[in-house]
Amino acid sequence: MSAAYERAWQESIADPQAFWGDAAQAIDWTAQPSAAYAEAAGWFPGGTLNTAANCLDRHVAAGRGDAAALIYDSPVTDTVRRFTYAELLEESGRVAAMLAALGVAKGDRVIIYMPMIPETVFAMLACARLGAVHSVVFGGFAPLELAKRIDDATPRVLLTASCGIEGSRTVAYKPMVDEALTLARHQVERVVLFQRDRLRADLQAPRDLDWESLRAATAADPVPAPVPVASADPLYILYTSGTTGTPKGVVRENGGHAVALAWSMRNIYAIDAGDVFWAASDVGWVVGHSYIVYAPLLVGATTVLFEGKPVGTPDPGTFWRVIARHGVKTFFTAPTAIRAIRKEDPDARLLKNIGTGRCEAIFLAGERADPDTIGWLEDKSGLPVIDHWWQTELGWPAIASCFALGDLRRKRGSAGFPVPGYAFAVLDEAGHPVPAGHSGAVVIKAPLAPGAFRTLWNNPAGYAKNFATFAGYYETGDAGFIDEEGFVHIMGRTDDIINVAGHRLSTGQMEQIVAAVEGVAECAVIGADDAIKGMVPIAFVVPRAGFDDDSGLAARVVAAVRAELGPVAALRTAYVARGLPKTRSGKILRNLLRRIVNGEAWTTPPTIDDPAVPAQLQSLVAEHHAV
Ligand code: COA
Ligand code: AMP
Repeated sequence: MSAAYERAWQESIADPQAFWGDAAQAIDWTAQPSAAYAEAAGWFPGGTLNTAANCLDRHVAAGRGDAAALIYDSPVTDTVRRFTYAELLEESGRVAAMLAALGVAKGDRVIIYMPMIPETVFAMLACARLGAVHSVVFGGFAPLELAKRIDDATPRVLLTASCGIEGSRTVAYKPMVDEALTLARHQVERVVLFQRDRLRADLQAPRDLDWESLRAATAADPVPAPVPVASADPLYILYTSGTTGTPKGVVRENGGHAVALAWSMRNIYAIDAGDVFWAASDVGWVVGHSYIVYAPLLVGATTVLFEGKPVGTPDPGTFWRVIARHGVKTFFTAPTAIRAIRKEDPDARLLKNIGTGRCEAIFLAGERADPDTIGWLEDKSGLPVIDHWWQTELGWPAIASCFALGDLRRKRGSAGFPVPGYAFAVLDEAGHPVPAGHSGAVVIKAPLAPGAFRTLWNNPAGYAKNFATFAGYYETGDAGFIDEEGFVHIMGRTDDIINVAGHRLSTGQMEQIVAAVEGVAECAVIGADDAIKGMVPIAFVVPRAGFDDDSGLAARVVAAVRAELGPVAALRTAYVARGLPKTRSGKILRNLLRRIVNGEAWTTPPTIDDPAVPAQLQSLVAEHHAV
């Protein structure tokens, strides 16, 4: 055990005021907070700051304007571009001037539906500069999902680009934006579109504006000064899957976020000014918000923005090439990406040829890291591979081995130990702690650490629900156990959320879409194990009279989920069945369905309504595998 870790954790729990008050000194405040925490006001009450100024201006003012801030590496367009801190300040300042010219001011919302290009980072920082609230929507979501976010966030402006590049596929964004705005009740005042060379989009005057033209038109405007905001003012809204079809808008506050992220870079990831950090995620997810954009810049490090996939862009050596080329010190990715690389390069030939340069550690998160994948990566890279756990709601890791505090304890299958600021418990259904090694609901003692959510946008009741089941605790929605040595093991969800290739999705939401497909009488969507993506959704549908297996029902179900939720759902299999396994009271036995599709042993539950159903389903699944 590391004494530094132990001391930090104890202090953070025994005296959070002192611990986080100290950590807050890493941030430049325009007004100092009066305390670290107050029950009603939250983290750093009385404090005002600007997050973009903390990410950019202060480093330039300190004489680090020529240091590298952002490296854009895009194998799909064969481009590498570098931006110093001074250049990133200027570029994001230009976008801030564009937004200001459109009337965007403190508190206004801006939706960003953009691919992994530098302009997306400029846009996020530009909003932060103005005190406006951005909401980035992942490109893999369909127009209906974008429309739901537009209606909930009610933005003044929507920023987009003509296309994204998904491996060899070019994804046109503008038709999706147009469709979303047709579906949405709320209308934005302006759409500003960045034209990429690969595909040009048509603009509809007067609503749509060309990014470059607007930039030219506002070129003489000064870069707007960073607007001080209260610590508890929102920096962004990030929508994530809940258990219903309505996404949850996690609100991130400026002050707690800046303090927690800066602390995490230095104490978990061992990254400080001048170091290169790379999180191979997408800015549409929380990992991208925290560890591609804000955290590396808050500490004056260099961040890598990678537009590509772990495989196929152009080969499974692309990650190692980026790490070696840019001198990445700490690397962060999802287990899925490593499984995809391993499948194509099982002997790690490319890894051995290219090497990992100056890399000192690899962190994994987003889904459960299977011990086999960790073992393979440690063996082939010779680096410590550190699984760690967190959620969109929290914004930064809550379970990890605090590498930078000298804690290198690892156990394959466990995500590590509670991070300073977080006290965990594992509870049974009655809310009693279970003994070490026993599974239960994984909960975190309230109040949550700085950076974690303190409300949901337009939905304080939805927020309160997370604290309603177990008094005094936040319910993570995950199940797991803490072993005798204190390692926390996260085993899966207690609700209908699944992780598909590290992407968080709700099977309940998919069921709602499937149930509405013409010809579907009944349905269930469950997460089945997948060798690469960890989990994939599978639908079971019972047709109405007149819609049999040959009516194209399965194909329509697959198409509906893709059209309404988006390609990221990756629902590729729908079984048309005669019946679903149900209890006599009508509850669908989803666990039994999961066992059947996973090829695991199952028994017919005594409460089942029709005992013939499981065997019928098993033959259906077996036939499918035989095809
Ligand atoms: N814009 C538009 N479409 C997108 C998209 C985006 N930003 N991201 C994904 N999609 C599409 C994909 O093109 C694919 O479409 P297809 O069905 O037409 O092929 C679909 O959504 C599913 O995407 P994905 O889950 O990424 O699968 P894939 O087969 O394209 O790639 C992996 C498989 C393993 C290489 C990929 O999932 C991966 O890199 N995973 C790691 C993800 C990660 O880092 N997550 C971290 C979150 S913290
Ligand atoms: P997201 O909000 O998209 O980050 O997803 C959060 C969920 O992903 C968690 O509640 C977990 O179910 C899962 N998750 C994230 N990291 C891990 C991990 N290291 N091990 C197991 N599950 C994880």
